[in-house]
Amino acid sequence: MRKVRVELGQRSYDICIGHNILTGLARHLKGLSVGKKGAIITNPIIKKPYGDPIQQHLIDEGFSITTIELPAGERYKTLRSVGKIYDILIEKKFERDSFIIALGGGVIGDIAGFAAATYLRGIPYIQVPTSLVAQVDSSVGGKTGVNHPLGKNLIGAFYQPILVWIDVEVLKTLPRRELIAGMAEVVKYGVIADTRFFNFIGENYKNVLSLEQKALIHTVARSCEIKAMVVSADEREKGQRAILNFGHTMGHAIETATDYRRYRHGEAVAMGMAFAARLATVLGMCHKDVLNWIERVCSSIGLRTSLPAAGFETLWDILQRDKKVINERLRFVLPVRLGEVKIVDGIGRVVLQKTVQSCYSSYKNVRHEKRVSGHHK
Ligand code: NAD
Ligand code: GLY
Repeated sequence: MRKVRVELGQRSYDICIGHNILTGLARHLKGLSVGKKGAIITNPIIKKPYGDPIQQHLIDEGFSITTIELPAGERYKTLRSVGKIYDILIEKKFERDSFIIALGGGVIGDIAGFAAATYLRGIPYIQVPTSLVAQVDSSVGGKTGVNHPLGKNLIGAFYQPILVWIDVEVLKTLPRRELIAGMAEVVKYGVIADTRFFNFIGENYKNVLSLEQKALIHTVARSCEIKAMVVSADEREKGQRAILNFGHTMGHAIETATDYRRYRHGEAVAMGMAFAARLATVLGMCHKDVLNWIERVCSSIGLRTSLPAAGFETLWDILQRDKKVINERLRFVLPVRLGEVKIVDGIGRVVLQKTVQSCYSSYKNVRHEKRVSGHHK
């Protein structure tokens, strides 16, 4: 089993990553300072194959466990779902040392984490992520919350789990589209912090997508290490944590323009990463090879990098409403080279329009450019 530590003083915790370790969670929990009463929060897709065996093992180890099922899907990431959790916790007399296990993808993780952050002003919770997005991103770092009818993730809290328990074996039931979408966040870590890892993904993505154990565990563990490093340095996103948003500014605009229905989050992030790299080349901040490498790795994985035909005005309107706008100037995370990004404020309309137009006009050419081979520096 691989272990990654998230160093946050008294709120530090381990991320344990392994193969077929799901039911080992019960024994591990006995070594942590939690009470006997716990709730597994999950959805009907995850409950039967993974929730039920975990519950049985916890009961065998002497815990008293309630399973709370929420319907699957982003549209249930609401305060109403959190309210349903509170109702059951209150009814079952959960106390300060009672715990929550968030078993599912990022939606369940964010809802259950928020319920844990707010019930009795905070009870311990454990993330057991089951999608690739959740294993490499959302289960680590303590961002919890739900959507509001007026916007995504508008209600939430920073609240760290006491443990993240990752069994890569569960990815065998994850739909392939979800797996591929999750790879966008993996590519992101390579671009923002680690050229070697970027190369590793470029060379091993087939093994990862076919769930070959060694490649998969390395991929998840290295992603968690990078996320842990960034979060440990800037837990509440006062500065550098924002580099985790590489690809997300345009990515969110694309998701919004298409009503969150057409693309999975990772699919939009891949387009956003390619857009950010193109913007960096337009600004003279990085070599065009960086854009080519990002596009090439993403398309090999099966992630589209060209912008959908949303039109500049639509994207511009949405971008201006972005949380990252300061005085109508936009903030982007832009690559300088592979393994290094910069947070750039003050990106204006003219340069964005030029970049969007260059995306539409040159996509065809980029696809047919000579493939870049070998290692990327
Ligand atoms: P998701 O939770 O909706 O999961 C995707 C689908 O896969 C769901 O239908 C789910 O039931 C199913 N699924 C999950 N694991 C499975 C498995 N092992 N086998 C079969 N089916 C499985 O989506 P996601 O992509 O995991 O997460 C997206 C959510 O995460 C968004 O709400 C996003 O805002 C949030 N997020 C949060 C953070 C953070 O830092 N907190 C970071 C990234 C994303
Ligand atoms: N997913 C971005 C962050 O955790 O900060």
